[in-house]
Order: sequence, then C-alpha cells, then structure tokens
Amino acid sequence: MTVLNVRDLHKTFVLKDMTVKALDGVSFAVEKGEMVAVIGASGSGKTTLLNIIGLLDRQDSGELELFGEIIDFSKDSKNAVIRNGRIGFVFQDYSLIANENAVFNVMLPLFFTKMPIGKMRKKAAEALQKVGFPETHLKNKVKLLSGGQKQRVAIARALVNDPDIILADEPTGALDSESSETVMSLLKDLNASGKTIIVITHDPLVAEKCTRVIRMADGKIV
Ligand SMILES: Nc1ncnc2c1ncn2[C@@H]1O[C@H](COP(=O)(O)OP(=O)(O)OP(=O)(O)O)[C@@H](O)[C@H]1O
Ligand SMILES: [Mg+2]
Repeated sequence: MTVLNVRDLHKTFVLKDMTVKALDGVSFAVEKGEMVAVIGASGSGKTTLLNIIGLLDRQDSGELELFGEIIDFSKDSKNAVIRNGRIGFVFQDYSLIANENAVFNVMLPLFFTKMPIGKMRKKAAEALQKVGFPETHLKNKVKLLSGGQKQRVAIARALVNDPDIILADEPTGALDSESSETVMSLLKDLNASGKTIIVITHDPLVAEKCTRVIRMADGKIV
C-alpha cells in the first residue's frame, strides 16, 4: 500500500527582494513499512518537504497524496484529523513548551481526542518510558532538561497518538553516539511494528539503517 505520493511539488519563499526555490519539482512515493532517510546539504529543502508532507505547510503547486487520498488544503478540519491522528512529527528544534513538564508536552497531541485526562497522562508516561526518558525527571520543566532528554520528549510526543507514519527531522541531531543508537533502534522497532518512517538526517550511520535513502540538493531529488 502506498502511504505517501508526492508529485512535482514546488515551494518558493519570498524574502524582501530574494526568492528561494525551497522545493523545485519533487516527486516520490513511499510504501507502507518503509523507513526512508532524507539526506542533503543544509538549505536543500528537507524540512520544507517534511512540513508539507506533515500538513504543517502547503505547497505552491503539485500534488500531495496521503493514505490514498489527495490532500485538499481547503479542508482544514479534515486535514487536522489526519495530522493529529495519523502523523507523528518530531521537529528539528523540538518545539516543546519550555515551561511545562515532559508528561504535559507528550500529552499535547491527545488533547485533540476525547480521552479522559488520567488516561492521557498514563499514555504519555508510557511513551516516555518507551524512549528511555528518566522517570525521575517526568515532572521537571522541559527548559531544565538536557538536549538528549528534550529529544526523547519530542520523540515520545510523536509516538503517543499511535500514528501510521512518523516524520522525524534530525531526531539524533543533538545526541551523542550512544543515545543516537538508542533512538535509532527505537525508530527501527517502530518500523518493524508496521509504522512507516521518514527521517531527515545528516548522519550517515542513521541513513545506513534505513531501507532507502533519498538525497536532496537545491530543492530537487538527485
Ligand atoms: N519560512 C521560510 N521563509 C523564508 N525562507 C525559508 C523558510 N523556510 C525555509 N526557507 C528557505 O528555504 C530553503 C530550504 O530550507 P529548509 O529548511 O527546507 O532546508 P533544510 O534542508 O531543512 O536545511 P537544514 O539541514 O539546515 O535544516 C533555505 O534556503 C531556507 O532559508
Ligand atoms: Mg531542516
């Protein structure tokens, strides 16, 4: 089954008198169960691509198909259901709420469901345990955590809604090699359990563990 199909995506950013073609005709498909690495130099369009696939941004032209349906960007509420229920997103800068604790941050995607708050807390704690987050730090404000701990919170938040596809932007970017191995084996386990994963990385050791590598340069797949 094809979970993702993008056709001829274009996205241009305009800053004052400068225009940047962040995506310049990107087409590819991903089948269920794949674990795809996206590599490429800084500024090549990787995050832009992931943001569009994750329904956080929209393309200027071209088509995005998710789970067999072409995304209509005018259907906000329908797209929100897809984004919150079927997609797990790990942001490059974590995007955590600094003044809240780890459990609260991981609970966030569940606020869109009708789950009772106690169950949300339990699921969040379970997800944090899964990623090896220290139990002693569960109640600490995120701003007091180390980079690696924040990265684990970001990954736990991407898993907590049991998504079909996980989009991870440099999930090992801030980790030492040992923690990076732990995160990668976690992503591999999730992949083995049937989740489709797309992971942006600069780390050749991470890319090596994926089933396929897509390389980007200047907004294109090369
Ligand atoms: N919101 C924005 N406004 C203006 N320009 C942007 C915006 N987002 C991205 N860009 C530009 O688009 C290009 C692609 O950016 P993108 O973030 O996709 O790169 P990247 O491959 O993820 O790089 P990195 O490896 O550094 O994270 C860059 O030149 C960037 O400066
Ligand atoms: Mg990026």
